[in-house]
Amino acid sequence: MTYRYITTPIYYVNDRPHMGHAYASVHADIMARYLRAAGHQVMLLTGADEHGEKIAKAAKEANEAPGAFAERHAKSFEEAWRRLAVEPDRFVRTTAPDHARVVSECLTRLFDAGEIYLAEYEGLYSVGQERYVTEKELVDGKLPEDKEPPVVRREPNYFFRMEAHRDWMRQLLLDTPDLIQPAQYRNEVLKLLEEPIGDLSISRPVERLEWGIPIPWDTRHVTYVWFDALLSYVSPLGYPDQPAFAHFWPSVRHVIGKDILRTHTLFWLSMTHALGIAPYRRLHVSGHLLGADGRKMSKSLGNGVDPLAAAHTYGVDALRYTLIREVSFGFDGIISHAVIEQRLNRDLADDLGNLASRSLSMVVKYRGGVVPAPKVYEAAEQALIVRSRELPAVVLALVEEMKLGRAAEQVMEFVKQLNVYVASSAPWTLAKDPHAAGRLDTVLYTLLEALYSVSNLLCPVMPGKMTELQAWLGVSAGPGWDRPWGEGVKPGGIVREGILFPKLAGETGIE
Ligand code: MSP
Repeated sequence: MTYRYITTPIYYVNDRPHMGHAYASVHADIMARYLRAAGHQVMLLTGADEHGEKIAKAAKEANEAPGAFAERHAKSFEEAWRRLAVEPDRFVRTTAPDHARVVSECLTRLFDAGEIYLAEYEGLYSVGQERYVTEKELVDGKLPEDKEPPVVRREPNYFFRMEAHRDWMRQLLLDTPDLIQPAQYRNEVLKLLEEPIGDLSISRPVERLEWGIPIPWDTRHVTYVWFDALLSYVSPLGYPDQPAFAHFWPSVRHVIGKDILRTHTLFWLSMTHALGIAPYRRLHVSGHLLGADGRKMSKSLGNGVDPLAAAHTYGVDALRYTLIREVSFGFDGIISHAVIEQRLNRDLADDLGNLASRSLSMVVKYRGGVVPAPKVYEAAEQALIVRSRELPAVVLALVEEMKLGRAAEQVMEFVKQLNVYVASSAPWTLAKDPHAAGRLDTVLYTLLEALYSVSNLLCPVMPGKMTELQAWLGVSAGPGWDRPWGEGVKPGGIVREGILFPKLAGETGIE
């Protein structure tokens, strides 16, 4: 048995989950389900990033205590994942005492080892935004959203000696070409590592921010939110000494968006190195979702599609399928109502749904709903059987690379091949010829068994609909990933008809 550990970003709970969050979580969940189906012992982690200025400010605006505010939003994330069929094994909250203990222990160890020191930080501070800003962000001497220019502010901060780990990180990336995928992000980080990266400020004075984990030896400071949040990848495993950490950590893959690449490379790799934690196995970096207007989805532009509303309108399975098919992982791409409707109507209703409903209805019509026993497999069936045997390995290899859209595409190509087979074997003609009864049995059985294999191959993507299809095929859900041909649908069993993906009446044209 092999252990596999997959994480999503630990989301800021300052607002409701949006499609960008759903994109990352659905990818991680689908990978987890495939690996589980293939027999691995999988741990999927997601969670809530509850400390820091962003949350403190949002809570203040909502007139709520930060703890209560974060709690309420963390619950809304948990609920959203339930509704999107994302099933994490652990939901970490950075306000949990167990997590805070790990953060304190790590800070103390690094401080004792001389990896952390106190210094004056001087920078340009935006009072409007309550944060330090860089020269690059300024337009005409101020942030575009501010009325006043930033002021020079000095404050004592604890610093982590990140720069001291730069050469090691650079060497790690050079020695491990697949550490960061897709490769363009690895190149980006390698470029950053060519120049000094400086040390990392890891604390904030309590006068300015109280909402955080206290620095254990100096309670005038709280821990910087990223130092806290990154450790939530190890705290739920019982780091440092629990068996779950020893089992799962070596296999870890983090799924993130490109907006948090720097923190997951410079910060996290240097932190793990300083703590003596092995570096992660892989970082899967996604691009950004764009709205129908081709601009990054954002609340201010109002060009986003709400994931829960979309799941309600189109069905959660259609949404999950569209997310992986429409936007290749690593690249930017558009998610709009129009693209979800198209995927639902064309791929799911016309191709897959149609294959299922006509296969099942022919068994009902010609064989009274009883699964016939196949007789002689001819070349057409042999080709389908071979493909159905090959597909699990083809799909898994793509899943390992987080090419989930390509994996689903391979299965949907098989579905198309099956639709061609229906047309060319013409069961409706065979049904009219009493001498072709054996041939009809073989064709019908082949369609049912192939549908069963499709249902297994797509179950991680569309767990609800594929489980339903298996019930219609008369096969109980259960381990079936690698079931040999002929071991799925049983002759003599009873099938049921149904419409898997009702077609939307006319694509609405809403973007
Ligand atoms: N709390 C940090 C992560 C800490 S991980 C130790 C954070 N949270 S976040 O709520 O802002 O979520 C960030 C993640 O949401 C991004 O990395 C990305 O995965 C996803 N997305 C947010 N907006 C997005 C798009 N418009 N498109 C795709 N994904 C984006 O950062």
